[in-house]
Amino acid sequence: MTTRIVGTGSYVPEQRVTNDNLAQIVETNDEWIRSRTGIGERRIATVEGTSRIGARAALKAMEQAGVDPEEIDLILLGTSTPDCCFPSGACEIQGIIGAVNAACYDISAACTGFVFALNTAHAFINSGIYKTVLVIGADVVSKLVDWTDRGTSVLFGDGAGAVVVKADEKGILGINMKSNGTKGEVLTCGARTNGNFLLGKKPEMGYIAMDGQEVFKFAVKRVPECISEILENSGVSAEEIRYFIIHQANYRIIESISKRLKVDMERFPVNMERYGNTSSGSVPILLDELNRDGALKRGDKIVFSGFGAGLTWGATLLEW
Ligand code: ACO
Repeated sequence: MTTRIVGTGSYVPEQRVTNDNLAQIVETNDEWIRSRTGIGERRIATVEGTSRIGARAALKAMEQAGVDPEEIDLILLGTSTPDCCFPSGACEIQGIIGAVNAACYDISAACTGFVFALNTAHAFINSGIYKTVLVIGADVVSKLVDWTDRGTSVLFGDGAGAVVVKADEKGILGINMKSNGTKGEVLTCGARTNGNFLLGKKPEMGYIAMDGQEVFKFAVKRVPECISEILENSGVSAEEIRYFIIHQANYRIIESISKRLKVDMERFPVNMERYGNTSSGSVPILLDELNRDGALKRGDKIVFSGFGAGLTWGATLLEW
């Protein structure tokens, strides 16, 4: 028994923010952003939070899967931007969609959140504990961005994607998950500390801070390694893979991954031009677009791979 994706959904907020719009608030320009990242615009949430956009994506995935809320055994939300410390975003989504029988919790692995959540769902299904799991990747990264920092503010956008997975004969062929806590300092977002009355500290806001070149080097080395390992362990060759659906952080990172794997860019779909880096949302949003465009055929072999803060990185190999 394995884990099959039976429905996909995604949602991005309506508000578009172009590179030219950003050039009005920080010293940057469309040419710089496009040539270094492949990003043209992003969506920014104005009224909706992570739970609301996650629930919208989830409802679309459930509709496509033909799954009623009561059938869902587990909700896993990959996010690093839950609306509250508690309740968890997954519990909030449960409340919105009425999945009364589900256990719910968030998985914190930054931009790898969706891949880690999907792989965790597979572990539960593979062991026979659960049959139907809702896996969501949703982030409102815009609330963690220092909008005066042109080095990070141009990269991110808000969005959510979701899949419904079920126990089935065919589906996931392999999973791979990695972390390196000793390199965490290259990509951080500090806590919003309040101190306490004994410390007498003033509240501090944490914002995203990144050593861009170190993150770049990490991604282009570790992602191909991780994908090669999952393929080798599953006895599948890179030539057999129809699509590599990689975290949409940066076009140049994906280009470099394609070169290292010696696989043509045609098999690395991209959509960061329209959404920027939506963190945990990026892999399931792209998956949903491909699925709804009819680009995925039964039996196609597909690889998902995410990478991000932690450091964390991982992959899923599956047969559609
Ligand atoms: N607009 C214009 N100029 C800029 C901007 C901007 N938005 N940001 C930086 N610059 C300037 C810098 O000040 C610098 O100027 P200087 O040479 O006068 O000092 C120059 O551009 C080059 O800056 P670098 O930071 O060296 O630019 P780099 O070529 O490394 O590109 C980038 C930065 C795009 C972030 C790159 O390092 C990268 O792609 N890193 C990967 C990280 C990534 O994608 N992170 C996403 C989030 S993490 C995740 O999802 C895992």
